[in-house]
Amino acid sequence: MTKILVAIAWPYASGPRHIGHTVSTFIPADTFARYHRMKGDDVLVVGGTDMHGTPTTVRADEEGVPPEAIANRYHALHAKNIEQLGVRYDLYWNTADANHKRDVQEIFLALRKKGYIDDRTMTSPYCRTGKHFLPDRYVEGECPHCHFKGARGDQCENCGRLLDPFELIGPRCRVHKTAPEPRETKHAFFRLSAFQDRLKTWIADKDYWRLPVLTFAKAWLAEGLQDRPITRDLDWGIEVPLPGWEGKRIYVWFEAVMGYLTASRECWRRRGAPERWKEWWYDPAAKHYYFIGKDNIVFHTLFWPAILMGYDERLGLPYDVPATQFMNISGERMSAGRGRGVWLPDLLERFAPDQIRYYATANMPELKDSEFTWQDFAQRNNSELLAVYGNFVHRALTFAAKNFGNAVPPAGFLDAADKAMVRNAEDQSRKVGQNLEFCHFRDALREAIQLARLGNQYFDAKAPWDLVRTDKAACGTALHVALRVSRALALLMAPFTPFSSSALWHALGYESDIHRQRWEAVLEDVPAGQGLRVGKPLFTKIEIEGAGEEERFDLRVGQIVDVQDHPNADKLYVIQVDVGGEVRTLVAGMRANYTKEQMRGRRVAVLCNLEPATLRGVASNGMVLAAEDERDVGLVTPPTDAPRGAQILGVKGAPRLTFADFQKFKIQVAEGGRVVFLGTDEKRSIPLKVGETFVLVDKPFPPGTRVR
Ligand code: MF3
Ligand code: ZN
Repeated sequence: MTKILVAIAWPYASGPRHIGHTVSTFIPADTFARYHRMKGDDVLVVGGTDMHGTPTTVRADEEGVPPEAIANRYHALHAKNIEQLGVRYDLYWNTADANHKRDVQEIFLALRKKGYIDDRTMTSPYCRTGKHFLPDRYVEGECPHCHFKGARGDQCENCGRLLDPFELIGPRCRVHKTAPEPRETKHAFFRLSAFQDRLKTWIADKDYWRLPVLTFAKAWLAEGLQDRPITRDLDWGIEVPLPGWEGKRIYVWFEAVMGYLTASRECWRRRGAPERWKEWWYDPAAKHYYFIGKDNIVFHTLFWPAILMGYDERLGLPYDVPATQFMNISGERMSAGRGRGVWLPDLLERFAPDQIRYYATANMPELKDSEFTWQDFAQRNNSELLAVYGNFVHRALTFAAKNFGNAVPPAGFLDAADKAMVRNAEDQSRKVGQNLEFCHFRDALREAIQLARLGNQYFDAKAPWDLVRTDKAACGTALHVALRVSRALALLMAPFTPFSSSALWHALGYESDIHRQRWEAVLEDVPAGQGLRVGKPLFTKIEIEGAGEEERFDLRVGQIVDVQDHPNADKLYVIQVDVGGEVRTLVAGMRANYTKEQMRGRRVAVLCNLEPATLRGVASNGMVLAAEDERDVGLVTPPTDAPRGAQILGVKGAPRLTFADFQKFKIQVAEGGRVVFLGTDEKRSIPLKVGETFVLVDKPFPPGTRVR
């Protein structure tokens, strides 16, 4: 029995969380914790809401309410969403709690006493308009590394690099939009550099970490660790417990990571055994896992271990930090700060928690970014969770209920196929378990679903609907095996989709709580004669409004072969465009914006199934897409090496679309000049791509500009 600490990144109290946060933190952590509980390990799951820091004050400023109001509101929302999602914490806490504050201040003073924290004067950005220093996110500008325009003073959201506000190109105060000036201020510094060697030695044997995590941490070490200021000029946060520091607060990152330790203490204090947290933190055999997103890597692989080393050498360090990459939407980062994403409260309102959990795991960005689309969300749920797993167990249950008196038939004599199926259950459970041990969630889930797939094949091959007439005993055996496999599936899926596993367990006739069963019980048989309680199918089909709308389009890469002025209209061109083995004539209104030379030979996006029209006497057979506002027109441009005729959206030969129909759909410019298809339901957003490369707009247009 191993002591396992499951440490979940603390969500900011600044707004609802999006599915990107969820796939990095709550869902893998809960899956992992559930698996280890079933293994009989001693699991402690801690975390809570990150109440402080500028994300909360920024939101409070925007709404004109005190930061406490925002923090309390989103703490309550996160706690509720976590519960709805079936994520079980031993303690879901928050960093505004007085006990957390007290512990943080104690750790701060202890580190200071040991010489790991000292006071220095530094220059910080100061806003003269608002007469305040500008911490972190209050400065915005262009990232000097990746040139992302909306980088913040602490970190570039796009490339993930930590920044100093004065490194930004064109820095401005986000409240007053004026350029800040450098001004001296006193801050406490954490001497991270003092831990360089210890961290290097510690990380040396972490070759089992996910490669992007290890690479990131090692790159920091190779650059040489810098001392970091750990206080801010703010009035929201934990006070520095020293006289003369009244206007300063402890940096949110410095105190929030301590929450893993302070929450462990609090949890056992509340349970009336205030010393027991030590079993997780002082036992060298205990294993600590941190579930975070990639923008949190440095804080969890370097800062926090250094704090732990400096504070108390007996404390356990992270065993693994299985950070995920990002789940993007339309090729862009989801961002709570920017209000772009698929929001957890919305998802929970529309879908079952297991459907959200299933998709999150099946598309988890373990090693590289993944893409959220509503189509994919519906498709994976419908064709995997429902059609493979749900369907298999439902077939077995309903058939047995109907033909064998609503009870599990006896096993009887097992032939080679029956035995092979039983063995499949054993093999798959081993594969699921092994993958979970290593935090390979996607593979683990795939192996579990594979068992259901094999189950369906077995069921089809046995054809119990025939067997029931020809050989009832053999039919009973097949059903017995199918129910045994269903039972195994209920257990294997329990860490991933806990609600449906409970329902299935109940349907199989068990009275007990499936979440208290042992993982090894997967291998056990289902008792003959046990009464079944067949209910509704486990899953419902997801129908996304507007799904498949893009199939009404035939949008292709075309290359302009020739351009002439329209004989009767001085704003129009007559264009010959090769759309892949076929040259079309079409009329386009961009004579004021592009010269003929700029047009010839260019690659463009051509809507090939638009109803032909005659424009001022010339027949036009298709449309060249362009972004357009009052100022200018910009051609939609596929990648330069895209082959003529390559599909950008929809299918070749899609039925004709009238112009009026076309206008019901929305295509628009997104950040970075990408073009996205929103259909008629703006909740879905499909980036236009050729292969892996995005289709861009030729000139800069603000996001939201309409494309036609
Ligand atoms: N609130 C931070 C975020 O959402 C994560 C904090 S993790 C902690 O990115 F450990 F620092 F709390
Ligand atoms: Zn200002």
